[in-house]
Amino acid sequence: MRKPMIAGNWKMHKIISESVALSEKIKNTLEKNVHVDVVVCPVFTALNSVYSVLEDTDIGLGAQNLYWEKEGAFTGEISPIMLKDSGCEYVIIGHSERRKYFSETDEMVNKKIKAALEIGLTPIVCVGETLEEREAAKETAVINAQLEGAFNNIDINDMGNVIIAYEPVWAIGTGKTATPQQAQQIHQFIRQWLTDNKDNEVSAAIRILYGGSVKPENIKELMDNEDIDGALVGGASLKAETFAQIVKNAKEVI
Ligand code: PGA
Repeated sequence: MRKPMIAGNWKMHKIISESVALSEKIKNTLEKNVHVDVVVCPVFTALNSVYSVLEDTDIGLGAQNLYWEKEGAFTGEISPIMLKDSGCEYVIIGHSERRKYFSETDEMVNKKIKAALEIGLTPIVCVGETLEEREAAKETAVINAQLEGAFNNIDINDMGNVIIAYEPVWAIGTGKTATPQQAQQIHQFIRQWLTDNKDNEVSAAIRILYGGSVKPENIKELMDNEDIDGALVGGASLKAETFAQIVKNAKEVI
């Protein structure tokens, strides 16, 4: 049985005081012991302050990126151990905005996943096709290539610590959600890929989140599908009430 997860990706929003206020509000709005794993991913500068707020709760902390080296002359980068040191348990890797604006390749995603796993951070690995690719009916080919690149040479024993997020690029921040059927079809494809390329156990255990314009109104119908185990939420995670409502609606499904 996979425990549902709702993760909030705050992207490049909120200074430290705002991040602290939002995390305090989320903490106070969420019921205790929910049957959903809840994670928030603030900007780097706010990580440790948010950690202080959430330390004594079940709400997990994640970063939005990392660099794969441990330390060194890599101006502007941040290492896995630095994220751990800030209180992180999770890290988003390979988000489509990083692929698009910062030229992240599947090979870089692969190095980042390995570095995260090595230090004991749980990577939330993002895959997803663009509108152009979907219109050309290439979505499964694109996702297949992204999965092959991302999980190349990653030990089966480490795969249990991985979370995958399917985020169709055309649905991110556009208000255009994939239909539950479209999402389920790709989630099933990803799970089948895991069976074929890793093993049955890994495939059955890995949580696959959906991301792209998730709101309180659509989370239920998305999660009604067998292979959709939760969501990576952008815009709707920036308001405590909305985020808590998504968690609540996700919880009611099980
Ligand atoms: P959105 O973003 O919910 O604002 O569409 C999702 C994401 O990019 O993770």
